[in-house]
Amino acid sequence: MPQPPLPYTELLAETLITEEQLQARIAELGAEISRDYAGKDLLLICILRGGVMFLTDLVRHITIPHMMDFMAVSSYGAGARKSSGQVRITMDLSLDIAGRNVVLVEDIVDSGNTIASVLSLLKARNPASLKVCSLLDKPEMRQSEVPIDYTGFSIPNKFVFGYGLDLDEYYRNLPFIGVVDTEKYATPH
Ligand code: PRP
Repeated sequence: MPQPPLPYTELLAETLITEEQLQARIAELGAEISRDYAGKDLLLICILRGGVMFLTDLVRHITIPHMMDFMAVSSYGAGARKSSGQVRITMDLSLDIAGRNVVLVEDIVDSGNTIASVLSLLKARNPASLKVCSLLDKPEMRQSEVPIDYTGFSIPNKFVFGYGLDLDEYYRNLPFIGVVDTEKYATPH
């Protein structure tokens, strides 16, 4: 059984992006996507699980008709994904993306390996277009060069959590992005 973590207030070194800042930027991104895809077919794909909070707020600001779908990916072996960049699909899409305008919705692009691998898997299904929308971008950590078409915030190389990003699967629900106090948080991995 997982051990309940410390209260998040004890693990929080600082708030990096407030709820107000997140919501204001997400509203801008929703407006931008609505303009760019006006009159076109639009399908948003959320990569589970980190992207869920962002997707559900983003779509409230997308004013054009669109669909959404979900996929989950995992590494081929423990710890392998971030080093190798290879992922396998553990839960596939319900919809066929051939001929459709797809926007992938992620919480964070770090090494870029996950999104690079997902882009290559999805390109093979012949979408009409395929773009990336990531709430957070950590450019210092990049190993795979990936185009990010819509970015919420570019952030420094800090250990962040909240708003979709977990601490051992907890605290994805926080409405802000916080920085972990690494002196108080002992990673069990
Ligand atoms: C996180 C995040 C991205 C990926 C980014 O997922 O949601 O998918 O890592 O890292 P990368 O750019 O270095 O590949 P995670 O594996 O933590 O799963 P989760 O979404 O279920 O939290």
